[in-house]
Amino acid sequence: MGFDAIEVIIAKRDRGELSTAQIDWVIDAYTRGEVADEQMSALLMAILLNGMNRREIADWTQAMIRSGERMDWSSLDRPTADKHSTGGVGDKITLPLAPLVAACGAYVPQLSGRGLGHTGGTLDKLESIPGWRASLSNDEMLAVIRSAGAVVCAAGAGLAPADKKLYALRDVTGTVESIPLIASSIMSKKIAEGTGSLVLDVKAGSGAFMKNVDDARELARTMVELGTDAGVRTVALLTAMDRPLGLKVGNALEVEEAVEVLAGGGPADVVELTVRLAREMLEAAAVPGARDPEEALKDGSAMDAWRRMIVAQGGDPDAPLPAAAESAVVTAPASGTLRTLDALKVGLAAWRLGAGRARKEDPVSAGAGIVLHAKPGETVRAGAPLMTLYADEAGRFDRALQALEGAYEIGDQDGAGLLPLVIDRLTA
Ligand code: URA
Repeated sequence: MGFDAIEVIIAKRDRGELSTAQIDWVIDAYTRGEVADEQMSALLMAILLNGMNRREIADWTQAMIRSGERMDWSSLDRPTADKHSTGGVGDKITLPLAPLVAACGAYVPQLSGRGLGHTGGTLDKLESIPGWRASLSNDEMLAVIRSAGAVVCAAGAGLAPADKKLYALRDVTGTVESIPLIASSIMSKKIAEGTGSLVLDVKAGSGAFMKNVDDARELARTMVELGTDAGVRTVALLTAMDRPLGLKVGNALEVEEAVEVLAGGGPADVVELTVRLAREMLEAAAVPGARDPEEALKDGSAMDAWRRMIVAQGGDPDAPLPAAAESAVVTAPASGTLRTLDALKVGLAAWRLGAGRARKEDPVSAGAGIVLHAKPGETVRAGAPLMTLYADEAGRFDRALQALEGAYEIGDQDGAGLLPLVIDRLTA
């Protein structure tokens, strides 16, 4: 049935509820170019201001899924599990997590993205490994998953094309920050990807999309409902992003830290979150006889799965990673406890060093980034290194240092009001 775009816009403008048929029509007509960008912009703004209820959000998500292909892993002989993070500074968890969960008995098909702004993208990180390829055909994905147990690659153009068009429009019309639109955008891609179970890592804090815990909880709840309504076993963890995760921020630097974790070392927060998410994924996927993730890190089987996964996508896991030509050390101005270290400011500094991009088509530097020498709660000495900045050109340091102004506080007490690493867990 055809509708009139103006009527749909007015219905939402006047706080009405859109019918399933109206939503199906408007998403399909917009994807085909029949509804104009300016009309969809007005509808998106009305949704941002007036919201959508659970049924409308589910319909909006299903309509975006139907705009493209839906992947099918039913030929695999083990359950599939996936994780999605809403993104943060130093969040390299996918890198050790995907091979770890594969080593414990589930298949992990993970479609990932590139970074935009201050948060890094998983594909940018993996592309710092010489030879590694992000773009795979569906047959290649299946072959990688069969041989390595996990695949991390770029989503093809056929997956939720309505979301691609809508996301680009939201980006330039001030309509990104709507929980129904964010939740449906993320979940349309995850559901179309065809995973049987999904664990969401919804971050809260300065370095996250959601700055406060209440908004993050609302986003998590909406996504858990969407997954559940679509028949995907979905769990969400709310986790801290008021400070960076781990000690390394930047593409090759984060690969380095992920490999440390797979080798049985790595920073405590990265290890804790990786193991916790792995357990959640194995439980959500109901993997029969699943192995314990801590064991798989200790006995080298997670590292073996990582190496197989990298090789299967053309990468050389033994090749040296690219390193930046220039470095600059930031020293502690006083002795005491590092009380805070603002994730957003560290992320912006890493971005200005060249680790991130401002526009989709910009290249990123593989070697640029930041290595932290202390985390909040730890003691620092005046004059001792607090962090080292890396860039391909020394000319980038000034602007990165400006971003770091006021990024940390050194005082007498312990970490000031830091969020717990795992704040909450939500299920249907
Ligand atoms: N990531 C997405 O895929 N969509 C959003 O709307 C926000 C973050």
